[in-house]
Amino acid sequence: MKPLIIANWKCNPTTLREAKRIFGATEKGVKDIKNCEVVICSPFPYILHLKPYTLNLTLGAQNCFYEDEGAFTGEISPKMLKNLGCKYVILGHSERRKYQKETDEMVNKKLKAALGAGLTPILCIDKISQIKKGPKGILNLESKTLNLIIAYEPLFAIGTGKPCSPERAGKMREEIEKVAGKNAKILYGGSVNSENAADYIKAGFDGVLVGGASLNSKEFIALVKNLNIKI
Ligand code: PGA
Repeated sequence: MKPLIIANWKCNPTTLREAKRIFGATEKGVKDIKNCEVVICSPFPYILHLKPYTLNLTLGAQNCFYEDEGAFTGEISPKMLKNLGCKYVILGHSERRKYQKETDEMVNKKLKAALGAGLTPILCIDKISQIKKGPKGILNLESKTLNLIIAYEPLFAIGTGKPCSPERAGKMREEIEKVAGKNAKILYGGSVNSENAADYIKAGFDGVLVGGASLNSKEFIALVKNLNIKI
């Protein structure tokens, strides 16, 4: 399987012009990449303006609502994202759990809605309880055939420049696989850069979720190229 590299731009940049610049530079840099899939998850207002011309690059979003349409002021639905050309949506990111007080129950509803709309959710977790079945559990993984990606993002590693060691992350990957099954793709996220990305693939991960380093197109292209060569 090709490693999946997800760029999470978070709430950046502040202008469409800059978003187009980063996107264009990234696209140019990865156009000959054959062994990785690269996904750009930009803020909502830019999605419509970022048109990939290479199949190597796909679009995603950083969140969605749990209903497809209706009287929900300010929300963006999974169907809208699908109709705009998004393939993926990040859900349950720790920053949303922290600042928007998203609970496992809310994330679970979003997950179901995203799957229903034909999007592939990237579910972010930092502990196993977030995917275990139960009153707080986030999903019913009984069938283990869901088209689901789980990103293990330890809180201490996000945006700190202090990544979790590949060994430690690899142990967590095994625990996640025990719950989610072998069909689930499992990514690592948290201070990933061009130097360390390949270590997580070697540790068994199916890809990486990249925040800060994805906004620097030079660094991000180097990261993608490193994975493309080393895998
Ligand atoms: P970071 O963010 O790469 O800046 O640590 C990762 C994330 O929050 O998805």
